[in-house]
Amino acid sequence: MTTKKRILSGMRPTGPLHLGNLHGALANWISMQETYDCFFFIADWHALTSDYENTSAINDFTRQMMIDWLSAGLSSENCTLFVQSHIKEHAELFLLLSMITPVPWLERNPTYKDQIVQLSNKDLSTFGFLGYPVLQAADIIIYKAQGVPVGIDQVPHVEITREIARRFNFLYGNVFPEPEAILTKTSKILGTDRRKMSKSYQNAIYLSDSPQTIATTVATMITDPQRARKSDPGDPDVCNVFSFHQLYTNADTVASINRDCRRAQIGCVDCKKIMARNLSEALSPIREKRAYYEAHPKEVELIIENGNRKARTVAAQTMMEVRTALKI
Ligand code: TRP
Ligand code: SF4
Repeated sequence: MTTKKRILSGMRPTGPLHLGNLHGALANWISMQETYDCFFFIADWHALTSDYENTSAINDFTRQMMIDWLSAGLSSENCTLFVQSHIKEHAELFLLLSMITPVPWLERNPTYKDQIVQLSNKDLSTFGFLGYPVLQAADIIIYKAQGVPVGIDQVPHVEITREIARRFNFLYGNVFPEPEAILTKTSKILGTDRRKMSKSYQNAIYLSDSPQTIATTVATMITDPQRARKSDPGDPDVCNVFSFHQLYTNADTVASINRDCRRAQIGCVDCKKIMARNLSEALSPIREKRAYYEAHPKEVELIIENGNRKARTVAAQTMMEVRTALKI
């Protein structure tokens, strides 16, 4: 009796998850897992589109990402959790969709142009990189997902997916629903340097960080940039440490920090120590679950195998319909 609406989303396994990912995408997925029929997967083939030269870390990142997901609270009972490259049907649908996707749709994709500029250290003049959205479309429509929870940056990809699905249906008959993007609110917290939290900026706090690492990293955080000395009043409204407090510290303490900072009655060093302690504590259930899964790798493998099996059943069924529609 799955009358639940099906949603699907994926992450590329580019490294361990940080708090920006947790308070952005992952928390959103976790909150949806009971209301929707959820398919979440690790897009390891998509990681290859930009990291094809060095593939040595992808498998480990994939396993680590699954552990991050499970530790943070995604449940393999509520969701289908799987790995893209284990479901070969994605590749078959990708190939078929590539036949009907006009190249200009891909060339005018804003993420394509952006990434080529931003990742200028890599040669991205490949067929696979141009075809990134076609593979993503295959990922989505092979499960007939109705909703795709993603950040604003991925909306153009969902838009191309809709266009491809529409074109397929027009040419071969109605097989695919057109999925809709479900926008994820971006995380309020920034990296230690007040830029967006990102692995490549080296300003991130990871779910897997130890309390010691958290303390050291928090100590380097930029606070209210106008506040030079402890005797200067600060402004919590512009302070990233304060944004963390709002997530991890109890309301009374948040209120007193808010007051004391403005009156120069608390210094940033002490304020950060309180935050680091609360953050560490809040992450401790995640840390414990991570330690458990690290010690039980077979269990993680089993979860992935089960998820793969569930995903494969759905994908195989869709591919039968696709082949029938195509008469091939
Ligand atoms: N492109 C997405 C990202 O970089 C990852 C992804 C691949 C994805 N396939 C997907 C997301 C399908 C949603 C649906 O974040
Ligand atoms: Fe930020 Fe706390 Fe320093 Fe105020 S005291 S500026 S809230 S770190």
